Amino acid sequence: MNEKQRLEAQQVESTNSSDKKSAKDYSQYFETVLQAPSLKDAKKRGKEEVKYHSDFQISEQFRNMGDGRKFYIRTYGCQMNEHDTEVMAGIFMALGYEITSTVEDANVILLNTCAIRENAENKVFGELGHLKTLKKERPDLLIGVCGCMSQEESVVNKILKTYQQVDMVFGTHNIHRLPNILHEAYMSKETVIEVWSKEGDVIENLPKVRRGNIKGWVNIMYGCDKFCTYCIVPYTRGKERSRRPEDVIQEVRQLAAQGYQEITLLGQNVNAYGKDFEDIQYGLGELMQEIRKIDIPRVRFMTSHPRDFDDRLIEVLASGGNLMNHIHLPVQSGSTEVLKIMARKYTREQYLELVAKIKAAIPDVSFTTDIIVGYPNETEEQFEETMSLYREVGFETAYTFIYSPREGTPAAKMEDNVPMEVKKERLQRLNSLVNEMSAAAMKKYEGQIVEVLVEGESKYNPEVLAGYTSKSKLVNFKAPKTAIGKIVKVRITETKTWSLNGEMVEELVEVN
Ligand code: 5AD
Ligand code: SF4
Repeated sequence: MNEKQRLEAQQVESTNSSDKKSAKDYSQYFETVLQAPSLKDAKKRGKEEVKYHSDFQISEQFRNMGDGRKFYIRTYGCQMNEHDTEVMAGIFMALGYEITSTVEDANVILLNTCAIRENAENKVFGELGHLKTLKKERPDLLIGVCGCMSQEESVVNKILKTYQQVDMVFGTHNIHRLPNILHEAYMSKETVIEVWSKEGDVIENLPKVRRGNIKGWVNIMYGCDKFCTYCIVPYTRGKERSRRPEDVIQEVRQLAAQGYQEITLLGQNVNAYGKDFEDIQYGLGELMQEIRKIDIPRVRFMTSHPRDFDDRLIEVLASGGNLMNHIHLPVQSGSTEVLKIMARKYTREQYLELVAKIKAAIPDVSFTTDIIVGYPNETEEQFEETMSLYREVGFETAYTFIYSPREGTPAAKMEDNVPMEVKKERLQRLNSLVNEMSAAAMKKYEGQIVEVLVEGESKYNPEVLAGYTSKSKLVNFKAPKTAIGKIVKVRITETKTWSLNGEMVEELVEVN
């Protein structure tokens, strides 16, 4: 099925039973609907095999679209979004647009949004409010909303009702359609909506403008099939689909040849890599085994799901080399009962067993994690189990969140007897522990020599350079600017809760 046929097929689907309501809603507000989103449709996982397209091209008719025009993209949320922004920037540049770092200068503004928690969404609505003034002053300005929020029916409805300054809404599966969407928006006075509810295919050869030339992101898979009961991602990002190993390896080789010092392999659930291949038995372990042979100093991957973290991967990680000894392994809760309600598909004991297995294979490993507190009906005892698990694993740091109900997910329908003050108090207690253990982990570096990949000047003092260790610890130190982009040795002179201070000892690796 080509793209046009696919779009037509989906339009047909959207007018039948499951999407009647949204079809009716949308028609009240505008005429140009290419495709409206539906969380219900997103949940219906197709059995169709994933199609790979390597023929992405900018059509002749769009080639000069960007002449004399500038684009600005603001990115919210995770690395996946950051990387999608790099792809959209690549498409803009291929269309002849110039990049700008201020909204005032821009002819097109895109907000690449995140739907993971309510406060992420509120930030975007706030920003849209600010942009209204700009749109009034310059009616020819195009404003677009893309990313995960665009996949939600309620958000699209709200934009149409309340945020008429928005010209385009497009989804996470529609990024490669950016030229057509822009074209449509220039031609039409109505809001252009193109959001495919069901997963897209895998599109290769998309242009990219990467941020910086030291660290690069490489998508290895898209989507998530885990359906944890709190999480909106399986709906907004579609089903799991892996890029072919040869495409991933080629991209990493290119980055290595360009002098990149570090790559991070990206996916919502990277440990499920390859499960969707029908012709080969190939998982993340095999992929890492190939990638570790490539001449690039540092390789990371995120985000892992404990359930799919297999022995083959542990074995490959244990062989070290350019594979970093830091694993981000979201646990979410330390209580088996809560984990069950979250549908995480592992128990506290299984998580601890996995951690023990990894520690035995890689003695110098460090763990970080994600935790949600205040899940519906979480008891004090269950919360204490999270605290005790945190200590038992010895996490070096964590991203901690208060549970935020997401419309369309099973947890949003659960009754909840935990008052917000209790949730906030639990978050505070957890954060105190996180701080305490982070400071303790940092303390161990006092007087030690660490290898730091130097990323640039410190945010707070241009006299100071900043970079990260193999275990992702931020280090600030004085050194000549020539150290930027290199891996250097730094002696740690002072430790803080979230960062280390030091002095450079020597440079290690030259950038080609
Ligand atoms: N509420 C709070 N936190 C959430 N996360 C995902 N969904 C929610 C939600 N509804 C957190 C999880 C996940 C991280 C990226 O965001 O901890 O690992
Ligand atoms: Fe969300 Fe769970 Fe998938 Fe992670 S594994 S993206 S938390 S559904």
